[in-house]
Amino acid sequence: MNNHISKSVKVFAPASVSNLNCGFDVLGFALDQPGDEVILTLNDSKIVTIEKITGDGGLLPVEAGKNTASAVVQLFLKQLCVEQGVSIVLHKKMPLNSGLGSSAASSVAALAGINELMDRPLSREELLPLAMEGERLACGNAHADNVAPSLFGGLVLIRGYNPPDVVQIPVPENLWCAVIHPEVSIPTREARQILPQMIPLRDAVVQWGNVGGLIAGFYSGDLALIGRSMQDVIIEPVRKGRIPHFDAMRQIAMGEGAIGFGISGSGPTVFAFCNNEEQAANVCAKISSLLNTNAIDNQYYVSKINQQGPVITTL
Ligand code: HSE
Repeated sequence: MNNHISKSVKVFAPASVSNLNCGFDVLGFALDQPGDEVILTLNDSKIVTIEKITGDGGLLPVEAGKNTASAVVQLFLKQLCVEQGVSIVLHKKMPLNSGLGSSAASSVAALAGINELMDRPLSREELLPLAMEGERLACGNAHADNVAPSLFGGLVLIRGYNPPDVVQIPVPENLWCAVIHPEVSIPTREARQILPQMIPLRDAVVQWGNVGGLIAGFYSGDLALIGRSMQDVIIEPVRKGRIPHFDAMRQIAMGEGAIGFGISGSGPTVFAFCNNEEQAANVCAKISSLLNTNAIDNQYYVSKINQQGPVITTL
């Protein structure tokens, strides 16, 4: 018996907000809450199994090769050429198909956990491509703008994909985020299928001007520049129709003095950058009340940008 047998870890990995309007597939940041919790236990079975999933309403696959958390653990072990039994308990602590990087948080937590149990053979940079494969399994595309912030923490730019080039972007200390999830389900796979494959050059010019402006705003702490750069002329016009009361929610957020507002990832969650905690709480409360009035269940979160990424507890 090797000395790993019956070691267990519990890992929390944070949800994330991606795109930040103009930065489709290249920008994302981690949230303090919500997030997913994964418990991994080594055993001598030589196979990876899902022991239990809670909080998913029975929607997630329990077959190891189909569930993102277990599938990325299989890939990890294959890369290391190790035959190791692992049993996984997955506690989903955030809504599925919500645009909050739910599958990414599960993959990142599972990878951080197995890496810890195996005495950290891979760096976080080396875990990233494995986590991206989890995204491919979940939605058909290996984008990194949820897994990278969940794995590294902070706000990140995916400068390029071949190979992944992740740049940490500094964020102003006082930046708060209001995150509201209207309870309608929008699978990322579907939200990507409706996007145009070709875009007019004039739209591309607006978009890359805004990405540059956003990054400059984060570096200089210029909140007004951040706000006016949070404009998306390509993706939002196509996706916002699936999000109930999108324009009214934006109006509420901006009326409260938010810095900027947009779709979180592929939606339906929306987010607003705010100047302080109180403003973020007000934006959440007022948007939630609009949704309640229209009989749309919702959850909301007031969060700073999480700089920590996954948190590992040895059991
Ligand atoms: N960038 C991805 C998209 C994120 O917008 O499709 C998915 O959460």
